[in-house]
Amino acid sequence: MLEKLDQTEQKALAELAHLDDEESLLQWRAEYLGKKSTVTEAFTVMRELSKEERPLVGKRANEVRQALESAMEARREAVKQRELMKALETDKLDVTLPGRTPQVGHLHPVTQTMRLIYRIFGDMGFQVYRSREVETDDYNFTFLNMPAHHPARDMWDTFYTNQEGVILRTHTSPGQVHAMREYHPDPIRVILPGMCFRYEQVSYRSEMQFTQVEGLAVGEDITFGDLKGTLSDFARRLFQREVRTRFRASHFPFTEPSAEMDMECFICGGEGCPVCKYTGWLEILGSGVVHPNVLRFGGYDPEKFTGFAFGIGPERLTMLLHQIDDIRNFWRNDLRFLEQF
Ligand code: PHE
Repeated sequence: MLEKLDQTEQKALAELAHLDDEESLLQWRAEYLGKKSTVTEAFTVMRELSKEERPLVGKRANEVRQALESAMEARREAVKQRELMKALETDKLDVTLPGRTPQVGHLHPVTQTMRLIYRIFGDMGFQVYRSREVETDDYNFTFLNMPAHHPARDMWDTFYTNQEGVILRTHTSPGQVHAMREYHPDPIRVILPGMCFRYEQVSYRSEMQFTQVEGLAVGEDITFGDLKGTLSDFARRLFQREVRTRFRASHFPFTEPSAEMDMECFICGGEGCPVCKYTGWLEILGSGVVHPNVLRFGGYDPEKFTGFAFGIGPERLTMLLHQIDDIRNFWRNDLRFLEQF
C-alpha cells in the first residue's frame, strides 16, 4: 500500500503540472482525492492491516492527501494568475486615449445681459425684486392708472386666460406695485427682472415673449434729473464707453412725465436698417416719473414721496452688444446661434 501511495503521489503531481484550467483541476481532484482514489482506498484498507502497518499507512495516506491538496491549491492559483495575465494582454486598455468630454452649456446670451444689468444697478444700490409672470388685471393695469375699459390698455396686446381677471403680464411694471405694497413707507430702490408676454406680431424687433428689467426708485425729493442721470450712467457702464442716447418725450399712464430712451443703432451704425426701422435709433427702454395715482395704489403719499421708474428690454440691449439683427433668434433654440455667445 505504501508503495502504491508513493506512486500515486508522483503520478498525480506530474499530471497536475500540465493542467491549466479549472475544469481539468476538478477532474484531477476527483481522480486523486475522490471516493475511488488511492488515498481513500488506503483509509479503507487500513482496518484490515496489522497493528504495525496500520499507523504507517495512515500517516502516509494523510501526508499524500495533504501534499496533493496543497499542490492543487497552488496550481489553481497559478492558473488564475495566468488567465489574468492573458486577459490583460488581449483586452488591452489604452488609458492615454482622450476621454469623451461632456458637453457643457453656458448661459443664454439674454441671461448674460440680465446679469450685467443686475451688476450695474447693484453697484448703484438697487436690489433685485422678483414678481409673478401670471398677473391679475388689477396689477397689470388698474393699479398702474389704467381703470377697466381705459383705452390706454390697448397699448399692450394682452394674453388673457380662461380665468376672469387673470392675464400674462405684458410688462414688469405690475411688480412696482407689489414692491411698493411690501416696502411702504420706506424708500425703495429695486430692479424687477423677468419674462413678459404680448399677443403681438413677431418681427425682427419684437417677440411675443421677452424679458424686461423694470427699475423703481421711491423716496423724498427724487426728480426726473435722477432718472436721466441713472439711465445715462447705466448705458455708459453697460457699453463701457460714451454711447449716444436720446430721451424722447412719450406717454405711459403710470408715469408723468414719461420718456423713452433710444440708443444709437449699432447694427447699422445709425444709417438705418430694418431693426431700427430706418431711424438710426433703437428704443431700449420706457421710463418716467411715477404717477401720483400709482404711488397711492402702492400705499405712498404722493405729497411726500416721488419716484422714477423704467422698463429696459434686455433682448434689444443684447442685440446692440453683439450686433444681432433678428430678435427671433433668442427663442429659436438654435445651438449654432447660441454657441456664439
Ligand atoms: N412698462 C412699460 C412698457 O412695457 C415701460 C415702462 C416702465 C415705462 C416703467 C415707464 C416706466 O412699455
